[in-house]
Amino acid sequence: MIGAMRHHFLLSVVCVWALIVLLFVGKLITFRAADEYGDRGVQNWRVPRPKTVTASTVASPESQHSKSTDQTSATSPLTSLPPPDPEWLSISEKRLELLSSVCKNSLSNLTHVPISKFVLDRIFVCDKHKILFCQTPKVGNTQWKKVLIVLNGRFPTVEEVPEKVVHVRGRKGLKRLSSLTPQEISLRLNTYFKFLIVRDPFERLISAYKDKFVKNPRYEPWYNSKIAPVIIQKYRKSHPDNELTPSKLQFEDFVRYLGDTVDRKQVDQQFGNYIIHWVTYTELCAPCNIQYSVVAHHETLEQDAPYILRAAGVEGLVSYPNIPPGITRYNRTKVEQYFSDISKRDIRRLFARYQGDFQLFGYPSPDFLLDREDEH
Ligand SMILES: *[C@@H]1O[C@H](CO)[C@@H](O)[C@H](O)[C@H]1NC(C)=O
Ligand SMILES: *[C@@H]1O[C@H](CO)[C@@H](O)[C@H](O)[C@H]1NC(C)=O
Repeated sequence: MIGAMRHHFLLSVVCVWALIVLLFVGKLITFRAADEYGDRGVQNWRVPRPKTVTASTVASPESQHSKSTDQTSATSPLTSLPPPDPEWLSISEKRLELLSSVCKNSLSNLTHVPISKFVLDRIFVCDKHKILFCQTPKVGNTQWKKVLIVLNGRFPTVEEVPEKVVHVRGRKGLKRLSSLTPQEISLRLNTYFKFLIVRDPFERLISAYKDKFVKNPRYEPWYNSKIAPVIIQKYRKSHPDNELTPSKLQFEDFVRYLGDTVDRKQVDQQFGNYIIHWVTYTELCAPCNIQYSVVAHHETLEQDAPYILRAAGVEGLVSYPNIPPGITRYNRTKVEQYFSDISKRDIRRLFARYQGDFQLFGYPSPDFLLDREDEH
């Protein structure tokens, strides 16, 4: 009896001890993972890998060659990798702090979504340089996809990448995370440099509306022939004068569709992947569930583009095409014009859906639209 109790006691001691060891090891692993993430992430330039130059390597012709072509192998760490604009570094860090604090304080589905197949389908992979890029249309994505194609080594410069290569799926195009196994996906999510680009959510919707339903410059007839009629039929208010303009999608129809909380999901299902042009950034890229290294803003792309290339450690290998000055800047007059005919009730509903995006990325809520004098 005593023997059995003694045995039992010893067993418990061993168990507790094993648990303590396990906990300790677990902590160590977590810290390591965090450190590695930091190194791979935004802090790349802070630790320029100094290359030790020894007498014997300097003498060999091979290293002479590499010295003349490889700028980063300069002897002084100060000249090897110029630090990023310190002001921009701090702006970028503040964006990430805001994102993580909003994520922590809001648990709603406006900010948190699972990392679904839909999300993995949005993320392009550059294995050669360990970069992931989440696609958010209407912010110059085509250019970024070209940048990744150049980094993958298929073309020498962004200008030489043909348009059709950018849009092709499968083996010839850019690889997406969704094409990999769960293990391959989590390895990349945990260790690669990850970025996305966002812009003012309402201006983005205006841009999507104009691009797909008004101008349609890439000749994508299905927006006006398939999607518009469904939205009009369900959401157009039955004004008598609407009989005169039956087919063309108005911005008001679009806003009412986007702000619908009851049936929108069913409507979206009919539209397949075309909805990527207007669903929230949260739904596209799961920014609270994936720890992005850089969140760039379309409005400041001139500063953000070189910053991303430097933070990803690929500066000098590729350059982002010139951005015509002023073209990416926020235009409040335009937003006011587009929303001038939309009722406050519809604007409020629209904002309710997109407010997660406004908060996560630090865009001021559009009070100038909600506090208008007029009432419809
Ligand atoms: C989010 O949750 C609300 C209520 O909890 C629900 O009505 C809405 O459909 C959900 N939205 C999404 C995008 O899942
Ligand atoms: C802003 O938008 C308005 C209306 O679309 C346009 O007339 C104006 O030129 C734009 N301003 C700038 C600076 O692009």
